[in-house]
Amino acid sequence: MSLLSKFFSNTRKPEGFFGRMMVNGMNGGGHARLAEWGLAEVVIAENASVLDVGCGGGANIARLLKRAPQGSVTGIDYSPVSVKKSREVNAKAISADRCQVLEGSADALPFEEASFDLVTAFETVYFWPEIEKCFAGVRRTLKEGGCFVIVNEDDGISGNNVKWEKMIEGMHTYTPDELRTHLAAAGFRDITVRCDKQRHWLCVTATK
Ligand SMILES: C[S@@+](CC[C@H](N)C(=O)[O-])C[C@H]1O[C@@H](n2cnc3c(N)ncnc32)[C@H](O)[C@@H]1O
Repeated sequence: MSLLSKFFSNTRKPEGFFGRMMVNGMNGGGHARLAEWGLAEVVIAENASVLDVGCGGGANIARLLKRAPQGSVTGIDYSPVSVKKSREVNAKAISADRCQVLEGSADALPFEEASFDLVTAFETVYFWPEIEKCFAGVRRTLKEGGCFVIVNEDDGISGNNVKWEKMIEGMHTYTPDELRTHLAAAGFRDITVRCDKQRHWLCVTATK
């Protein structure tokens, strides 16, 4: 594996020194702009109960806490480096009992059925194993009428995706049609796709 490949594998699972650098980086810059764009048209109730899967460095947990000031946000990530950073970034909300961050994987979400109004996944579904099983697990944790939001900075047709998939083992950049198919197979309805065609950004919403 090349050094570059090794470095960028920290996007899939941040580990060690470079993983810590990666989560710091992901909390600002392009990821922040993408998340703002993705969330701009998502309706979030003030008292919403939200789950952010693959929460990385926790900046989106903080963003969601602001959008749901009377609600709560749970983050989950299978990287201990991500979990630690998310807990640091959201320490105040954790003390106030409005936030928790767990270590765990998208294919085995440790939550009761119908726990959340909203589940978000920013820049992470590319790495999930058995995507339909993961989507079915997300659906199970949603309340009836709850919404799943996927935000990706590559729509699978940018051309750049080929380079990234070669660089990062196990990565798959889904096209809008692929996401529609997998979400429908997992039982979601009312699937909508919003694209920024210039930047090849993608925001997909799906309802339980
Ligand atoms: C590119 S980072 C994005 C982090 C954050 N969502 C953001 O937008 O800044 C991908 C994150 O997803 C996590 N991740 C990847 N696969 C996962 C899985 N199967 N279960 C839980 N977390 C996963 C990684 O550990 C990493 O923290």
